[in-house]
Amino acid sequence: MSFSDQFFRALDVAPGDRREINAFAERSGVPVARLRHYNDANILPSGEDLPRVLAAAGITELELMLAMGRLSRETLNAIQANAATIAKLLEPQPASDAQPQTATAAPRIALETDLGRLYQGDCMDLMPTLDSDSVDMIFADPPFNLKKLYPSSIDDNLKTERYLEWCESWLTECIRLLKPGGALFVWNLPRWNAELAAFLNGRLSFVHWIAVDIKYSLPIQRRLYPSHYSLLYYVKGPQARVFHPDRLPMQVCPHCAGDLRDYGGYKAKMNPKGVNLSDVWWDVSPVRHAKYKRRNGANELPLKVLDRVIELSTDEGDLVFDPFGGAGTTYMAAELKARRWLGIEIGPTDDIVRRFTELEQDRKILANHRKELNALFPTEVLIARERTGWWTTESIRNKPRNVKNNLNLG
Ligand SMILES: C[S@@+](CC[C@H](N)C(=O)[O-])C[C@H]1O[C@@H](n2cnc3c(N)ncnc32)[C@H](O)[C@@H]1O
Repeated sequence: MSFSDQFFRALDVAPGDRREINAFAERSGVPVARLRHYNDANILPSGEDLPRVLAAAGITELELMLAMGRLSRETLNAIQANAATIAKLLEPQPASDAQPQTATAAPRIALETDLGRLYQGDCMDLMPTLDSDSVDMIFADPPFNLKKLYPSSIDDNLKTERYLEWCESWLTECIRLLKPGGALFVWNLPRWNAELAAFLNGRLSFVHWIAVDIKYSLPIQRRLYPSHYSLLYYVKGPQARVFHPDRLPMQVCPHCAGDLRDYGGYKAKMNPKGVNLSDVWWDVSPVRHAKYKRRNGANELPLKVLDRVIELSTDEGDLVFDPFGGAGTTYMAAELKARRWLGIEIGPTDDIVRRFTELEQDRKILANHRKELNALFPTEVLIARERTGWWTTESIRNKPRNVKNNLNLG
């Protein structure tokens, strides 16, 4: 993750010239290491460093902020107050030596079912061809710009601002495609979703930042262990047209099916249909085992995530769109759940096509997962609890004598 040297350029210092950087450090009194940090992370200097940098460069704070693209609310307010003048200033000028645009390959159909269609190609070529306000739900899990090697050889090591620019371009299309009341979900690292949320906040209604508890890298020195993906959830217009979250089973001991905490007098109030889905999803495991992977090396999401999202935000027959196919998990979940779907993958699509020929495997995984939902105690757990004398919804309501009503009795 790096920027395009906006800081050094604003100071009129050549980014690759050590002598110039050293000279600026000496002139300003700000150590080279700190100057490099401001440049590499595109961070505005603060404290004593700020006036020193400004004086040495002979620029104002506003000029530095503008050059680095780090605008304060105050600057934004000033821009709003002068919108007409600034818009004229920024209007793109037709270049006199403009080259004719090279035609990109139109996406080609790679798979069709009764419910959906998969294209092979660039989502930015497909989306402009789709109607505004036509899609009920969009799920997007883009590359994370982590220098990963994709089969499509896409550049996964863009400068930070280029990556964000690219994300904003496909998000703008997603927003246009969504029906009023439709939902947008964006799966990414917290670092990126913090930026994308700021963009989306002015265009859609924020519903949730869902933290999906999955450890995704090894522990890093002097950092907390990265343990959640961010799943942004937005809707178009003031509220969602569809909202039916699944209810989850109560967490019990995996060995004895007993309570993990003391529910005290709260048991009687617990909904027999299960626990409310929260904005922390702790029950998702990554697809690691080769047996379950649909594509080698793909960042394939578990079917469970897509099942939950689709159940939450769509009805049968609704149209689901995912611009980043990968192993096709969204399309498979939509197909199995009787939603219409549309998708595209820029790389090879054979794995998705093969996955659809083996659809029964995914159907089984989905059915196994769904039988655990919308009951406080799924059948097997209920039987185990009755056998070992733990409380159940029925036992609490009928208050039998020999039931373990709390952990102390266990
Ligand atoms: C993180 S993966 C998606 C995984 C998917 N959610 C799943 O569960 O299988 C991102 C995918 O987006 C594809 N991709 C990247 N840029 C694209 C573009 N411009 N248009 C379409 N697909 C793209 C990549 O090739 C990669 O397969």
